[in-house]
Amino acid sequence: MSEVILITSGKGGTGKSTFTVNLGAVLAQQGYKVALLDMDMGMRNLDLYMGLENNVVYDVSDVVNGVCRIKQALIKDKRFAELYLMPSPPHRDDGTVTPLHMRVLCERLKERFDYILIDSPPGIDDGFVLAAAGADKAVILTLPEFAAVRDADMADTALMALGIRKRLCVVNKVVAELMGTGLVPSISEIAQMLKPEIAGFIQYDENIMVATNNGLPIVCKKDSYISENFRNIANRIMEY
Ligand SMILES: Nc1ncnc2c1ncn2[C@@H]1O[C@H](COP(=O)(O)OP(=O)(O)O)[C@@H](O)[C@H]1O
Ligand SMILES: [Mg+2]
Repeated sequence: MSEVILITSGKGGTGKSTFTVNLGAVLAQQGYKVALLDMDMGMRNLDLYMGLENNVVYDVSDVVNGVCRIKQALIKDKRFAELYLMPSPPHRDDGTVTPLHMRVLCERLKERFDYILIDSPPGIDDGFVLAAAGADKAVILTLPEFAAVRDADMADTALMALGIRKRLCVVNKVVAELMGTGLVPSISEIAQMLKPEIAGFIQYDENIMVATNNGLPIVCKKDSYISENFRNIANRIMEY
């Protein structure tokens, strides 16, 4: 059965967009049909992170406002036959996209795709509520920093209020040498502060940042420890 997964965090810069692209690529590698929906309206990133910025014509707002058909706003990825991106509008939404629009769009995409991954904006206000409207499951990205963990907990509470029962956390940008020193929250402190289970930890690694900057999901390099970690995290998310 198809599933809509929201990637969110509360705090900005936690790696939501990077994670969305790499989770999408890992699922496409496994043969699933995947659509990525950029809902960070006015701050779109996914087109750049996938190296598709020159292919953007239509966006989510055009689809729900009837300017184009769903198919016309889906950009096919360069590397995977069944990975597509629907970009976000280049401007902040002025209220034309509603939660109902999002629910209908997600239902329509479920007819064609196995997984629909939604990249959320930071925060827990209107843009977040829109991004979450059609979601079945949520992955909350956080960092080994007290502020990011508290924001993740606030996002989790907001998701619960929206009725999203299936929620998991991922801790990103982990610096192994700092964990357990008392200088940053430890794994057990992070786990205690968060209600959902932790689906995995992703190390801070410059290669991730460099690949992202070059429009390449890092998991395309299949034999690295990063790809293996992403595959494990993807499996936990799918099975949850
Ligand atoms: N595990 C990681 N290691 C190193 N850099 C990362 C990692 N995850 C994300 N980044 C970098 O952090 C920055 C913010 O990531 P991004 O995905 O845009 O965050 P968000 O969408 O939450 O704002 C980007 O420069 C990205 O390349
Ligand atoms: Mg982002």
